[in-house]
Amino acid sequence: LARGDLAQDLAGRHVVVSAGGTREPLDPVRFLGNRSSGKQGYALARCAAARGARVTLVAANAALPDPAGVDVVPVGTAVQLREAVLKAAADADAVVMAAAVADFRPETYAAGKIKKKDGEEPAPIALVRNPDILAEIAGERPRPGQVIVGFAAETDAVLANGRAKLARKGCDLLVVNEVGERKTFGAEENEAVVLGADGSETPVPHGPKEALADTVWDLVARRLV
Ligand code: CTP
Ligand code: CA
Repeated sequence: LARGDLAQDLAGRHVVVSAGGTREPLDPVRFLGNRSSGKQGYALARCAAARGARVTLVAANAALPDPAGVDVVPVGTAVQLREAVLKAAADADAVVMAAAVADFRPETYAAGKIKKKDGEEPAPIALVRNPDILAEIAGERPRPGQVIVGFAAETDAVLANGRAKLARKGCDLLVVNEVGERKTFGAEENEAVVLGADGSETPVPHGPKEALADTVWDLVARRLV
């Protein structure tokens, strides 16, 4: 099917997608971050809009153009992403957490630029845990019947780790990618398996991120009440 022929199967639905990667600041000029490009999340937002959904895209540091017809909420840190996702999720039919959320943030933020001192070794950076947004949303289900989707990048024991993570997070679907040296980060294409809490396993062959996005929305649409 060409894009224009796609059924408007998400018409009247509100979906929330998080994308990109959070940045956890150390001082005004430095942060701890990750390599997520945001491309998969943006593809999810574009595809949902094309299928008729009202889309809120919570975008963490993605250097990508705003998709047409999508409500983009820019955020920086995991704490800001949590706030924006929870707010948008209140009346959402589905939440897809494609963002790479930093597991830890620096314990302290230096209001001024951290300076080195002659002859002194650097101090270690103390970290604290960030909130687990996916587990929180899946646990609370701000709206009954909501479909919650997570993403996981794994380097080994991909399916076993994915199954365990799906159960731990309590989400309905988990999109599992195998990552490695040259795989996935910043690429235009993706390959994944979508695991369902119902035991289902949907392989998505190597292809454009839009194809994976449409498979995710197919699986979500089927679960909407
Ligand atoms: N996630 C989240 N909040 C966090 C960390 C992750 O909402 N603090 C979400 C991600 O957006 C993703 C899913 O949880 O949809 C899985 O992320 P992942 O990093 O694979 O899971 P973790 O539980 O952090 O496990 P790991 O120790 O393997 O990093
Ligand atoms: Ca993590």
